Amino acid sequence: MISIAGLSMRLSSGGRPVNVLSDISLEVAARQFLAIAGPSGSGKSTLLGLIAGLDRPTAGRITVGGVEVTRLGEDALARFRLNTIGYIFQSFHLIPTLTALENVAVPLELAGERDALRRARELLAEVGLAERAHHYPVQLSGGEQQRVAVARAVSRRPPVLLADEPTGNLDSATGKQIIDLLLALNRNLGSTLILVTHDAALAAHADRLVLLRDGRIVGDEPVNGVTP
Ligand SMILES: Nc1ncnc2c1ncn2[C@@H]1O[C@H](COP(=O)(O)OP(=O)(O)O)[C@@H](O)[C@H]1O
Ligand SMILES: [Mg+2]
Repeated sequence: MISIAGLSMRLSSGGRPVNVLSDISLEVAARQFLAIAGPSGSGKSTLLGLIAGLDRPTAGRITVGGVEVTRLGEDALARFRLNTIGYIFQSFHLIPTLTALENVAVPLELAGERDALRRARELLAEVGLAERAHHYPVQLSGGEQQRVAVARAVSRRPPVLLADEPTGNLDSATGKQIIDLLLALNRNLGSTLILVTHDAALAAHADRLVLLRDGRIVGDEPVNGVTP
């Protein structure tokens, strides 16, 4: 499903080149739930951003569902992100001037789906926020904002879900709700899930755990005896 070969990312920080990712190779099967852990600064967010086509690597190749993401032009990349990737950020990233309902409808409208608002309403109900449809992000708690973000991320039924420390800004009970929701939706959609987390309890739900350090893979283990 996702195939990464020889991926490197070199950035300059204060005029000094930094190898943020060095020669990463990784195969992720369809429907696999992969957790990625590693110290702060180890390159986890950079890796997720590259898989989503938000950034271009210095070297290497990423293929998602047979599409070589690293060769797509800007228009094709925008379509790829809309149709293939659902992305959930630590800090929710909702559009502050839009209501919960409108935020969820954005990808549906961009994709030209008829009945975008009706479908967005259904999605909000699925994440337990039917009553909050017309609230703006500032009127919602962190956990509610993240539920809106999850509804938005899954709205196009993407084959790949990427979540970057999605519970990092939430208390543990709220974080647990978000994870349960993400896992349930992921199972229903049959999508591949890559979750960056510091939380060992969270990673324990995964099929497989990859450890990054200094931009390199230093561990790659099945979780709970499940073969990757
Ligand atoms: N745009 C950028 N320019 C320069 N350095 C960056 C940039 N983005 C990230 N970095 C550096 O790359 C390293 C990895 O960052 P990141 O992928 O955010 O790590 P993580 O998500 O594991 O904390 C860090 O040292 C960070 O400072
Ligand atoms: Mg990060």
